[in-house]
Amino acid sequence: MRRKIIAGNWKMNGDRDLVRQVAERAADSAVEAELAVCPPFPLLPTAASQLPFGVALGAQDVSEYEAGAYTGEVSAAMLLEAGCRYVIVGHSERRTLYGEDNDRVAGKFVAAKQAGLTPILCVGETLAERDAERTEAVVGEQIDAAHEAAGTQAFQGAVVAYEPVWAIGTGRTATPEQAQAVHAFIRQRVAERDGSEVAEQLPVLYGGSMKPDNAAELLGQRDIDGGLIGGASLKPDSFLAIYQAAAEG
Ligand code: 13P
Repeated sequence: MRRKIIAGNWKMNGDRDLVRQVAERAADSAVEAELAVCPPFPLLPTAASQLPFGVALGAQDVSEYEAGAYTGEVSAAMLLEAGCRYVIVGHSERRTLYGEDNDRVAGKFVAAKQAGLTPILCVGETLAERDAERTEAVVGEQIDAAHEAAGTQAFQGAVVAYEPVWAIGTGRTATPEQAQAVHAFIRQRVAERDGSEVAEQLPVLYGGSMKPDNAAELLGQRDIDGGLIGGASLKPDSFLAIYQAAAEG
């Protein structure tokens, strides 16, 4: 049985006060599901010291390089030292706004794993790709790129987040059936590459306008193992309500 994970991706939002509010509310989180928070880099130390034991910390991006002349970049070892367990790689905003392609994202995936972090690999199709019935081709390529770079057992100790680009920040959510179908495809693809044992243990999170009122239905799907929450993670009540749905599901 895979334990559900609810992770908040704050994107370029939040401040110390939000860390404090989430830390206070998360103190009464249960053990049935995992809670994680991914604030911007400067808030990591505050979050590491304030979040209660058991609430995991994650970053939103990482360099594919170990160290050196890469102005503005942050290495996986630095994130580990800052107290992170997770790092998001390949979020669609990084892919679209900052031109990260599958190869770069795969490099970040490998760097995270080598340093001992758990990468949360974001995959997902645009609306045009869905309309052209290319969802599986696009998502399959995104999975394969990480697998080719990381080698056998690539997805051991990793997390995948399916985030349909058309559902991010739009208020438009994939239906539970649409999401479940892609999640099952991802698990199948990973089984073909890494074997069914790795695939069965792999947490596959859904991201894209997940809210308290749609969380339970999405999280009730067989292959949906949690959520990567954007907007709703900035409201502690909503974030914890989604977490509650995961813990009770
Ligand atoms: P929203 O929940 O705001 O749609 O964002 C989802 C997301 O991008 C999480 O990484």
